[in-house]
Amino acid sequence: RNKMTWVKSLVESTILTSIPSCYAYSTHPSHGGDATSTEVVDKDQRLIPTIDFSLLISGSPQQRSLCVQQLGDACRDWGFFYVTNHGVPQKVIQGILQACLSFFNMSEEDKKEFEGTHVMDPIRCGTSFNSSVENVLCWRDFLKVSVHPEFHFPHKPASFSDISLDYCKRVRGVALELIGGISESLGLEKDYIKKALEMESGLNSFIANFYPPCPQPKLAIGLPPHSDRGVLTLLVENQGGGLEIKHNGRWIQPCAPPNSFLVNVADHLEILSNGKYKSVVHRVAVNNKTTRISLAISHGPSAKNVIVPAQELLLKNNQLAAYWGMKYEEYFMLQQSNQLNGKSCLDRI
Ligand code: SIN
Ligand code: FE2
Repeated sequence: RNKMTWVKSLVESTILTSIPSCYAYSTHPSHGGDATSTEVVDKDQRLIPTIDFSLLISGSPQQRSLCVQQLGDACRDWGFFYVTNHGVPQKVIQGILQACLSFFNMSEEDKKEFEGTHVMDPIRCGTSFNSSVENVLCWRDFLKVSVHPEFHFPHKPASFSDISLDYCKRVRGVALELIGGISESLGLEKDYIKKALEMESGLNSFIANFYPPCPQPKLAIGLPPHSDRGVLTLLVENQGGGLEIKHNGRWIQPCAPPNSFLVNVADHLEILSNGKYKSVVHRVAVNNKTTRISLAISHGPSAKNVIVPAQELLLKNNQLAAYWGMKYEEYFMLQQSNQLNGKSCLDRI
């Protein structure tokens, strides 16, 4: 493949009734099983836990400890939860999603400037996940930007950068509070995770995903099953439906309450907690009617940090470390250089 084909351009260039064979995911011998498992919808938000963020920061010790307990249960039993009353105005979330749409709507020529040449480039856009190594392409275009400790951003479209700086700062505030609560839920000090993983200079990535309508949604995949690098990912979307999380062997479709974040435990929280809180495997299905846009912000350790299970937890629980240490930037690079494939990166350590 020499020239990249954006799926957006593909669906806009002609009336498609079927997908090119390079997108036939579910019939590919290496992933046949993924598509057949049953799907359950979290219709009334009764399955997946909801965390009321306002309880965490209310100043009331009773409310906080209740919320910390709920956070711990959610991380242990699900690795995935909704966060409501987080204080990020709905207008700001709509604004950033709209700005992402404007980015993808730019001409191929305008986007070309941001394609990047290496998986570790601070600004990178393109299609699929890593088309240079994939057997099957994902029905997805993306923009990936490194926004912390240094804030990078495309200078086009105008004001995208300002809107996103504001959004990233707000989301980081929420993420660090959640991580403080999660730290306490493990019986550690509030700042333990933040300090141990040097999150003051932690790597945060802004990942915008664009999934246009697909004429054969069951055959294609938006993103294959994978877990995220980092500690915690906070996600918003322009519409429900598409994201699926694996829970006790079943695929569950979250139905986020209005104005909430979808939050998941990522690999480095699994490592730090020595497997008590497992990173959740998730995938993205596509549909034949609408374009879905999602925006994930990944909050990770600092580049040079070597993440190992917390010594305090090992001593307290009389456990041996279940993971080897690896420098965060090496893990990052490993994940970005391969196909997305379940927990294959974490399995290596
Ligand atoms: C991702 O897994 O990073 C994307 C999730 C989504 O589009 O919902
Ligand atoms: Fe993900």
